[in-house]
Amino acid sequence: MDVLEVKNLSIRYMTGDFKDIGLKEYVVRKLKHNYHIQEFWADKDITFSLEKGDMLGIIGTNGAGKSTLLKAISGIMEPTKGWVKREGNISALLELASGFDKDLTVKENAYLRGAMLGYTRKFMDETYSKIIEFAELEDFQDRPFKQLSSGMKSRLAFSIASLVQPDILILDEVLSVGDGAFRKKSEAKMREIIQSGATTILVSHSVQQVRELCNKVLWLNRGSQVAFGETQGICDRYEKFLQKRIE
Ligand SMILES: Nc1ncnc2c1ncn2[C@@H]1O[C@H](COP(=O)(O)OP(=O)(O)OP(=O)(O)O)[C@@H](O)[C@H]1O
Ligand SMILES: [Mg+2]
Repeated sequence: MDVLEVKNLSIRYMTGDFKDIGLKEYVVRKLKHNYHIQEFWADKDITFSLEKGDMLGIIGTNGAGKSTLLKAISGIMEPTKGWVKREGNISALLELASGFDKDLTVKENAYLRGAMLGYTRKFMDETYSKIIEFAELEDFQDRPFKQLSSGMKSRLAFSIASLVQPDILILDEVLSVGDGAFRKKSEAKMREIIQSGATTILVSHSVQQVRELCNKVLWLNRGSQVAFGETQGICDRYEKFLQKRIE
């Protein structure tokens, strides 16, 4: 049975409308007959589905539409066309440090994030010590979030997202930010999560990592779906494509 189904999904961004440029600029441009809204399709007609336990890698060059697609999958953004169907609770780690309050402490932020993901206080009481231990931030628990280094912030974000045991876990380029030791540890955690039967989606610029972790791959290019399916074959094609671009 499919845990996640994405069908003919398209997402359009509107740029230059008056929310973007501000009211004053809008009035000026309107008076000069120079007011144009541009539309841009970040994702076009994406279709794929995942079963329980699948680990999907999403690959594609900068601006391909990967993060935008994840926003639609995790429900932060409505698709302009098409639809997403998901089963179970979903924990997404998108832009790092988004969803954290810079003035609250590490501990308060962990509880806040837990609450946002829909977990009870009791569950978070039981899980919090594991989170802080995994993130190796025991000494920083009562410090405000803004005092953490960016690597520490990403360790905290990864630990929360992965230790709350979601049915679907979404990670946008997060395995590459910590230092070497933490990267090893988080990859091992990812394998454990996959073995526990969760479905995982990983955006990564490391083809090597995708080859090692993922059983399915989705390749996007300028918003279009180039390929979906078996990992090694698609990664081979993608690496050839990257090679050509360099030459
Ligand atoms: N809020 C926005 N308004 C307008 N255009 C946007 C917005 N966010 C993203 N875009 C555009 O949509 C396209 C896809 O962006 P997206 O962030 O999904 O790419 P990506 O594949 O995640 O790239 P990267 O590998 O650099 O993270 C880009 O061309 C980007 O400029
Ligand atoms: Mg991105």
